[in-house]
Amino acid sequence: MATLELRNVNKTYGSGLPDTLKNIELKIDDGEFLILVGPSGCGKSTLMNCIAGLENISGGAILVDDADISGMSPKDRDIAMVFQSYALYPTMSVRDNIAFGLKIRKMPAAEIDEEVARVAKLLQIEHLLSRKPGQLSGGQQQRVAMGRALARRPKIYLFDEPLSNLDAKLRVEMRTEMKLMHQRLKTTTVYVTHDQIEAMTLGDKVAVMKDGIIQQFGTPKQIYNDPANLFVASFIGSPPMNFIPLRLQRKDGRLLALLDSGQARCELPLGMQDAGLEDREVILGIRPEQIGLANGEGNGLPTLRAEVQVTEPTGPDTLVFVNLNGTKVCCRLAPDVAPQVGETLTLQFDPAKVLLFDAKSGERLGVAAPASASAHASNVAQFKGR
Ligand SMILES: Nc1ncnc2c1ncn2[C@@H]1O[C@H](COP(=O)(O)OP(=O)(O)O)[C@@H](O)[C@H]1O
Ligand SMILES: [Mg+2]
Repeated sequence: MATLELRNVNKTYGSGLPDTLKNIELKIDDGEFLILVGPSGCGKSTLMNCIAGLENISGGAILVDDADISGMSPKDRDIAMVFQSYALYPTMSVRDNIAFGLKIRKMPAAEIDEEVARVAKLLQIEHLLSRKPGQLSGGQQQRVAMGRALARRPKIYLFDEPLSNLDAKLRVEMRTEMKLMHQRLKTTTVYVTHDQIEAMTLGDKVAVMKDGIIQQFGTPKQIYNDPANLFVASFIGSPPMNFIPLRLQRKDGRLLALLDSGQARCELPLGMQDAGLEDREVILGIRPEQIGLANGEGNGLPTLRAEVQVTEPTGPDTLVFVNLNGTKVCCRLAPDVAPQVGETLTLQFDPAKVLLFDAKSGERLGVAAPASASAHASNVAQFKGR
């Protein structure tokens, strides 16, 4: 069991090359599950390799249980890593693959047998122990790779996109198993993914990364409800948040966003206090589930008539697309709503859930500093471009 802290970690792969990791600050408590999420090439694997000791950092410190481990060799760090490619030994049986790390550590044979039996049971691969990796499906190989890490009971687990080579159905199954396993073992874990659903469902904390910079670090709920900038808001959520560029107005002392469907207009009152927002070019963000059908009862929410452009019944929802201010906007409606294309719907909006972003910098507007996981961990880095 261990805490993990990254203090101002920098990484460059060579002089003249741009920094791959920039001033990374993260802290995870004992037993926590941290998700590191971001687009391909943003530096996720580099960060994992630095924690594991497979790459040296260029600046800063990596602390496990408050002791700096950044000078230690990988084998002294007591950290186990599962890679995206399973990296199993093809000529060894599953049993020997799992036992390999224990043999190297000179664990007595009887204890090794016990440990292999324990993880095989945990991962439900007992019937596969005498097979070679080539005789296993992708999902089974992935479990063996996991078993090899679990056999070691290290202080920290690192998983680098362990599910990305699996087909969609197996991914979802393994996602639940990962969560169950962590609930049972409670080992401090860093888990890398580029899949925002995995990010939202698996982690106690989420770090969203772009261009080697942590854009936001917080609980899944904070990241979803209170994104620090346009990048975080657009990366997390499926279907994604709608973004409508517009100029804010003020009427009778209230800040307004004017929405126009071509058929009707709606003055959306905004709760933000910031007086400096008036007349400003912003991007208004609203999630598809914050737009509903007006039920005619008049619950006080602003409404707008709009023509249906496209519908996408997904099963659990019907996604309906309308045009607002010249932008395609997705509304997530109930599955029994099946409007025709060209039909006019009366939509209603929850102004309390509307977010504003600066049109140029992408920073959130009209809020105090976004809530962060802890005072120390607050690391909402400068957002650079879209
Ligand atoms: N060994 C290396 N030498 C030079 N550049 C590298 C090396 N490994 C990764 N990079 C660069 O660092 C950046 C981040 O890569 P990586 O950490 O693999 O991203 P991710 O895992 O988020 O897809 C990329 O631009 C990549 O080309
Ligand atoms: Mg990677």
